[in-house]
Amino acid sequence: MKAGSQIVLRNLLRENASPFDLRGDARTGLSSTPKTLPSKYFYDARGSHLFEMITRLPEYYLTRSETEILEREAGRFVEATRPRALVEFGSGAARKTRLLLDAMLERGLLEGYGPVDVSADASRHAADALILIYPDLRVEGVIGDFEHPRDLPFAGRPRLMAFLGSTIGNLDALQATKFLRSIRAEMTDADRFLIGFDLVKDASILERAYDDEAGVTAQFNLNMLRVLNRELGASFDLEAFRHRAVWNPRDSRIEMHLESLREQRVQISELGLEVHLASGETIRTEMSHKYTRESVGALLDTAGFRLDSWETDQAGYFALVLARRSD
Ligand SMILES: C[S@@+](CC[C@H](N)C(=O)[O-])C[C@H]1O[C@@H](n2cnc3c(N)ncnc32)[C@H](O)[C@@H]1O
Repeated sequence: MKAGSQIVLRNLLRENASPFDLRGDARTGLSSTPKTLPSKYFYDARGSHLFEMITRLPEYYLTRSETEILEREAGRFVEATRPRALVEFGSGAARKTRLLLDAMLERGLLEGYGPVDVSADASRHAADALILIYPDLRVEGVIGDFEHPRDLPFAGRPRLMAFLGSTIGNLDALQATKFLRSIRAEMTDADRFLIGFDLVKDASILERAYDDEAGVTAQFNLNMLRVLNRELGASFDLEAFRHRAVWNPRDSRIEMHLESLREQRVQISELGLEVHLASGETIRTEMSHKYTRESVGALLDTAGFRLDSWETDQAGYFALVLARRSD
C-alpha cells in the first residue's frame, strides 16, 4: 500500500463544520473583564513547534512523568482494554503515543490510530512519522475541536481513547465535565478512556514548569498575539507584553497571562475592534488545572465514568487514569 493512502485526515475546520471561531472568541475574550483568549489558538505551526520544545525543557516535568508511567504501564492499559484502535484527543506530535501503539503491536492488536487535534500541521507530521514506524497502521484523523467530537474514527472496534499531556487541565470544571460526557456518548462498553492529570504540588515547581529559564514558554505565550496579528489583522506589539505564570490556589490552577507593559490601544482591524489595555493589565491565555485523586474521582463520577486504575510516577507528580463508562 502506498504510504499516503494509509492516512486520512478529515479537516472539520476547513469544512466549517467545527465551532472553531477565532473571530468570535477573540471579540468576546478581549471585550470582557478580565480579558481572556482560549488556549486552543496557540497551536499554529509555530505554536505546535514551540510546544514540542517545551516538552523537552528541564523545568517541564509533565512529559517525563507521564512517559515514566507509560513506559511502566502501557502493556497493562492495553491488556485491560484489548483495543484494535487508539483514538487520541489533542494528539500533537504523538510521541508518547508510541508507547501505547507499541504495546498494541506487541499483542497483535494494532489496526488503527485516530488523532483528533486542532493543529493540521502537527497532525500531518505526526501521521507521516507514525506510518514509517508502523507500516501497517491505518491513520484516520480528525482536524477539529475535541470539545465538539463528531464521528470519532474506528467506531465498531474496541478503542482505547487517550487524552494525554494533562490537556484536560486546560478546561475548567464545567468544560471538563461537558467534554467527558460528550466522549462518553461516543463510547461503547468495550472502549476505555486513558486520561493524564497533572497533580497539585509545590507552587514553585508548578510555576517554574510554566516559566522556564530559557524563555521558550514566554515565546509560546506571545505566539497567541502573532496568531491574532496574522489572522485578524491585529496590531499587537509583542515587545509591549510580558509572559507571566501564576499559581491560583483557589481554583487549583496555573494561569498563563500576557501582561501589558504600558497603557496601550490595539486595533483588531478584521473585527473593527479597539482594545484598551491599562499598564499591568493582563490577558489570560491558558488555565492548567491541577488535580488530586479526590478531584479526579469527583470529575469522573459527575461525567458518568468509573475509575479502573490510577497510576502515578515515582515522584507522585502526574497520574494516568484508566476509566470506563459507568452505567
Ligand atoms: C498541551 S498539548 C499536548 C500534546 C500531546 N498530547 C502531549 O501530551 O505532549 C495540547 C494539544 O492539544 C491540541 N489542542 C488544544 N486545544 C484543542 C482543542 N480544543 N481541540 C483539539 N485539539 C486541541 C493542541 O494542538 C496540542 O496538540
